[in-house]
This record gives sequence, C-alpha cells and structure tokens, in this order.
Amino acid sequence: MSENEAGAAAVPRLSIRGVAKSFEAIHALRDVTFDLAPGEIHALVGENGAGKSTLVGVITGLLQADRGTVMLNGTEVRFHNPLDARAAGVAAVFQDPNLFPHLSIAENIVTGAYPRKGLLLDRAEMKRQARTKLEQLGFDLDPDRLVAELTVAEAQFVEIARAVEPGLQLLILDEPTSALTPSEAGRLYTMVQALKAAGTTIVWISHRMDEIRSLADTITVLRDGQHVITSPAAELADDDMIKAMVGRSVALHRVSRAEETGAVRLKVRDLNLAGTFADISFDVAEGEIVAVAGLVGSGRSEIAQAIFGLSPQVTGTIEVDGQPATPDSPAAMSRRGVVYLPEDRDAEGVIASMSITANVALPSIRKLSRAGFMAPRRERALAAEQREALSIKGDIEALVSSLSGGNRQKVALARWLATNPRVLLLDEPTHGIDVGTKVQVHEIMRNLARKERMAILMVSSDLPEVLAVSDRVLVIRRGRLAATLDTEQATQESIMAAATGRTEEGAK
Ligand SMILES: Nc1ncnc2c1ncn2[C@@H]1O[C@H](COP(=O)(O)OP(=O)(O)OP(=O)(O)O)[C@@H](O)[C@H]1O
Ligand SMILES: [Mg+2]
Repeated sequence: MSENEAGAAAVPRLSIRGVAKSFEAIHALRDVTFDLAPGEIHALVGENGAGKSTLVGVITGLLQADRGTVMLNGTEVRFHNPLDARAAGVAAVFQDPNLFPHLSIAENIVTGAYPRKGLLLDRAEMKRQARTKLEQLGFDLDPDRLVAELTVAEAQFVEIARAVEPGLQLLILDEPTSALTPSEAGRLYTMVQALKAAGTTIVWISHRMDEIRSLADTITVLRDGQHVITSPAAELADDDMIKAMVGRSVALHRVSRAEETGAVRLKVRDLNLAGTFADISFDVAEGEIVAVAGLVGSGRSEIAQAIFGLSPQVTGTIEVDGQPATPDSPAAMSRRGVVYLPEDRDAEGVIASMSITANVALPSIRKLSRAGFMAPRRERALAAEQREALSIKGDIEALVSSLSGGNRQKVALARWLATNPRVLLLDEPTHGIDVGTKVQVHEIMRNLARKERMAILMVSSDLPEVLAVSDRVLVIRRGRLAATLDTEQATQESIMAAATGRTEEGAK
C-alpha cells in the first residue's frame, strides 16, 4: 500500500467520538462512537426512538451534544446550525419536511445563495439553477410550482435537490424513501450511487431492509441511544442486523387466509372520480383485509379518500353493512363506522402540540365521555393500552412533538385503532415504522379483522407487507382496477406485472 493510500484510509470522513445527548430524563444518545469512511454509503439503522435523528441533529448543528466530539476529515467541528454545516460540506435531508410551503420550488432550492442582477434578485437565473439541479438529479419538476401543492414524494425530491451541492463531503438522508414508491425510490438510489462515485459519503437512515441491502457498504446499528455495531454490510446478515436492533429475531410471516369471512361490510360499486379513477367495484367482508396496490399516481390513495368522503364529486354507490352510505363528508362516514388513516400523518393524522393521551382519546370522545363529560382516567387507560400494544416509546403524557418520527406514526395509528370502527381504511400503515414494530402492527390488524370483525382496506407500496397481511390484493393501474389477486397465489412479481401492465400474467 502506498503512503498515499494508507493516509487516505486512515482519515475517516466523519468520526463520532463519545457523543451523548439527553432531553431532560430521556437519554437519546449515550456515548456513541464510530467512523464513516470517505465515499461510502453508510446505513444507520435502529428501532423507532433509537436515536438516529438525534444523531443527525448533533452532526449538523441542529442540536448541540451534551458530551463528545465530531471530526470532519480529521478536524474537530462544532456546527452552530445546519447552514453552518452546509458551508463545511455537510448537508442533511431531515425526517421532518423543512421547506417553505408558500414559496416556489426554485426559491426553496436556491435559499441562501440567491443570484443577483445588480441589486435585484435574478429570478430567471434562480429558476435556471433550480431546473439544472433537478434535472441532474433526474427529477422532473417545474421550478415555478409552489411547494404547498406538491405531493409528499415531490417535496422530498425538492429537499434533496436543495441539499446536494458541488463538493459535498457528507450527505445525510433521514428516511428519504419512507413516502416513496419503489420506482421513485429507484431514482434516489441512482442519485446516491452517483454521489458516492464522486466521493461524497452518504448516511442512509431507513427501515427498509431491501434497500439497506442493495445500497449500504457499511451498517451501523443503534439501540436505545447506544452504538451496538458498525460492520461492513457484507459481513452482517439480516437476522444479525435485526437482532442487534431489537434484541431478538423477527420475521415477516405470511399469514393464513381469513378462515371464514362473514357478510360484506364495505360494498363499493362503480366508483368514479373524473380524471382520477373509474369503474371501481369491490367488496370487503367482515374479518377480511384487502390491500390496494399500484404505482404512485395510479389512484390508490384517492380511492380510499373518496370512500371516506373526502371527494364530494365522486359518483357510484357505497354500502356499509348493507346500508347505503353516500360518501359526502368524513363526518358522515365516521358516523357510519368508517375511519381513515391518511398517508400524510403530520398534516392530518396527529396533533403534535398535544399529548399521546389526548391524541389517542380524541376520536373516541363519544365512547369515553359520559353525559358529555370527559373521563380522564378512561382516556389514560386507553392511551396506556395503545402505547403498550404498539410499543410507543414515550410517556402517555408526553407531547407528540417530542416523539421520534416512527413513534409519531404509531400514535396516528393508535388514534384510529382505538375507535373500534367497522371499516378501517389505512394508507401506508407502517411508513417509517421499524421492522420489529411492523410485525406488531400486522398482528394488530389481523386481530382487528379476525376478532373484532372489522373490514380493513389497506393502501400499501410495501409489497412484502401486502403479501404478509392481506387476504386479497386489488391492483390499480391508471385509475382502473387492473386485477384482483388472491394473496395466497400472488407474488411481488405478479402484483408489479398487473400494476405496470407489462404482462397479464397472474391477473384475473
Ligand atoms: N425534542 C425532543 N424532546 C424530547 N425528547 C425527544 C426530542 N427529540 C427526540 N426525543 C426522544 O429521543 C429519543 C430518540 O429519538 P430519535 O428521533 O433520535 O429516534 P429515531 O431513531 O430517529 O427514531 P425513528 O425511527 O422513529 O425516527 C426518543 O425517545 C425521542 O422521544
Ligand atoms: Mg428519526
């Protein structure tokens, strides 16, 4: 080995040494030490609440560590804020969206270094820069669009475009694909491979095992704020990685079909929404879990939203337990026993400034109150029960804003599970939820269907999840029901084939 090579190998891109960070009584990070090599993709994994996002905060100066140091290319750095970090070539795409919704894509991407023409902002140049950047990354987005109008996935791409700068030393992506479909995620994989080839070190935080496997050179596992292991990816088997994360083995089991499905609870006929979907007809029986699969933009989520009364222009008929139910408003549909967990939890799913208890109890108020009075003890008992069932990490009186991303998702889910509905519409129920808890969520869904006799309709891009929990799969292609597959006979390939229309194989 030449002196040069030895020297290069000896200086890590980033060294984390004895980093600790507490939030009052919660030790989010305790004495974390590991290195990241130059030009590698380093996966950072761990259960919800393990401390991953806190570490991102400490590295980028969003948070200040209580103890420990961070070294960039061998020199100690202590950033005061993320802008400071960016100036040194360290950028992050945070788990919580961080864009200015009332500004355009271009204005969001070019923040900080606005091009000028004399004293004036050079708008045309700003747009040109934003467009070039988006194109280089393979994202087809009009820089004039307002961020407020973007889908979750599009907003994610804008954040990434903003973070990527020439000469980037370290790029941290905190669950960048949790809201993306496989094809969108694929574009991101290509992008990080290119950055890696250019010498940037990537920190990739994810709960998706398949992408960790295909991307990561090195894997670091955190558990309860502690560093468990840093290993070359090739030397760490899936099972060992999961054991390091959760302290036990976990496997996604494919469950048996519903033994006996009962009467039809949700009957949907000829549902049409101009420009979005057409001729959608299907049933969900009590005790049954039906998955809705398809590419993003195929109309999957819109179907669930329309059933919940969020699209007043929809036509067609819906029956709940044999009773006609016009989906004219969410309030009317909730009264009929239909509840909906939206994909965008932060906007619609939880109230971050309230406690876990308040969030879980809110939709169940009618059930919990007696003669109009709230029953705090019953509220707390309900919250405690859900906290236990979903392993939510946090005190039931803690504000939801203080929880980790995955734990916030669990609260959103708990809110609706606690209402004991007849029909449960779930949009991406396990986005951002760690592998261990995912299995618990699936178990809960199954119990709700089999024991509580709910009819569950689940929109999911996670094909292993679709195969693990559903009894049947409705595949939507361009707003039409392309196939109905029996989950027992379905495979990821047959679902994708029906979703893309590549072959008719497996489709009925
Ligand atoms: N601002 C805060 N105030 C109080 N507690 C916090 C705060 N931020 C994080 N925590 C706590 O620190 C712990 C670690 O949280 P962190 O967000 O780092 O987890 P994570 O590994 O990113 O989890 P996830 O996979 O769910 O995103 C959690 O127990 C969380 O509740
Ligand atoms: Mg996090």
